[in-house]
Amino acid sequence: MGCQMNKLDSELVAAQLEEMGCHQTTDSAAAEIIIFNTCSVRQHAEEKVISKIGQLKRRHRQQPNMILAVIGCLAQRLGQELLRCHGEVDIVCGPGRLHQLAAMIEEALAHRRQLIALNDRSENNLLEEFDCSRPPPKGNNPFQAYVRVMRGCNKFCSYCVVPYVRGPEECRPLDNILAESRRLVEAGVKEITLLGQTVNSYEFSQNGKMLGLADVLEAVHQIHGLERLRFITSYPRDFDERILHAMAGLPRVCEYLHLPAQSGSNRILRAMNRRYTVEQYLELIERARQIVPDITFAGDFIVGYCGEEQEDFEATAQLMQKVRYKNCFIFKYSPRPGTAADKKLADNVPDEVKRQRNTQLLLLQNQISEQLNQRYIGQEVKILVEGPSKKPHLDHPRQNGADRIQLIGRTPGDHIVVFEGGRDLIGQIISLKVTRASALTLFAEGEAVAMGKN
Ligand code: 5AD
Ligand code: SF4
Repeated sequence: MGCQMNKLDSELVAAQLEEMGCHQTTDSAAAEIIIFNTCSVRQHAEEKVISKIGQLKRRHRQQPNMILAVIGCLAQRLGQELLRCHGEVDIVCGPGRLHQLAAMIEEALAHRRQLIALNDRSENNLLEEFDCSRPPPKGNNPFQAYVRVMRGCNKFCSYCVVPYVRGPEECRPLDNILAESRRLVEAGVKEITLLGQTVNSYEFSQNGKMLGLADVLEAVHQIHGLERLRFITSYPRDFDERILHAMAGLPRVCEYLHLPAQSGSNRILRAMNRRYTVEQYLELIERARQIVPDITFAGDFIVGYCGEEQEDFEATAQLMQKVRYKNCFIFKYSPRPGTAADKKLADNVPDEVKRQRNTQLLLLQNQISEQLNQRYIGQEVKILVEGPSKKPHLDHPRQNGADRIQLIGRTPGDHIVVFEGGRDLIGQIISLKVTRASALTLFAEGEAVAMGKN
């Protein structure tokens, strides 16, 4: 569950368990070890996993060899309480101790006792080892990989649980990032997404020089065989323009910026401890558009934050209209235990109002996305083909023989493109003409020609 960091952690854990002799199964009833990698960022995500754990209570009693592990942010947040309140949970492991999970499972199997490991900074070197020793991705899409450039967060936005559950910001040595990326590319990875909670805050001192994200981009970009390079998520402050110049100047760095604003009201931004104003945010957007003309933006917004009045909400809608994001993620404020907002501010916007504001923003973003996407009709786009489309998108799939299926791919600007083609295109970069567009998807036709390079 949760963010890309969790997705990467799940991959690393799965690889560790496979080394131990385990196999992954899609049949959950057959599983002997069940691991929930959990998210704590909103209450709803926590409730979902708590209910799933509860559903396993009986099975755990009937199947004495079964191991149930809860890892990730909720494991860290609740710690002992999870073991105390849920006797069916065998293992609780925070995101900073995942390198020990395999050993914990072995011990739980041998001695049938509850085990817990929570974040501990003295373990960070071992965690670094955990990232460095990862095997290349397998499964449906071995062409795309996440590479962590930093862990944790130091920003302490008032609403956010991340600094508490993932700990303080820690940047990885550039050499390790590079070595990991090189091995991934040698194994066939074509697109790397660099991950950090506030990825543009990356700083690492090497040979007396302070390196930033722009240096990481330049270095990883040089890896022979890498075709695309992305990074998420950016924090709208202290944004080094060199990053924008790297996007503009390095052909394989994708022109896409995920830049959460969270609110369009200065009063609310202050209450959120975001440390920038709407004006500064817009200045950054403007500068990015000057330096990287084809850039696309994605945003995050929280509606119904403590004390949010109608006029604050309207300011958020205005910001959305000014920026014209490609897409936005919109969340209803959810108080998180332990955060400054939860301790000091009243969650005083009624849920009904949060819901209305959420719907209103979604509708507005939908209109913007649809308008922006119309501009692509008739244009050629370069896409990295990711795999078969999970749901049928095209109204009348043409019957061009059994070897043609509906595929999805992504443009450098992160637009999803649906088209028909052969399975052999998966993992290739191809060029196609857009014929139709909706708010969420571009549809393309034509003979796909593999291009080899971005
Ligand atoms: N309530 C609602 N949304 C939140 N986010 C983070 N914390 C909360 C919270 N307490 C949102 C922010 C962030 C995204 C990952 O989740 O928009 O960018
Ligand atoms: Fe949370 Fe703010 Fe850090 Fe993002 S920058 S993870 S919202 S504390």
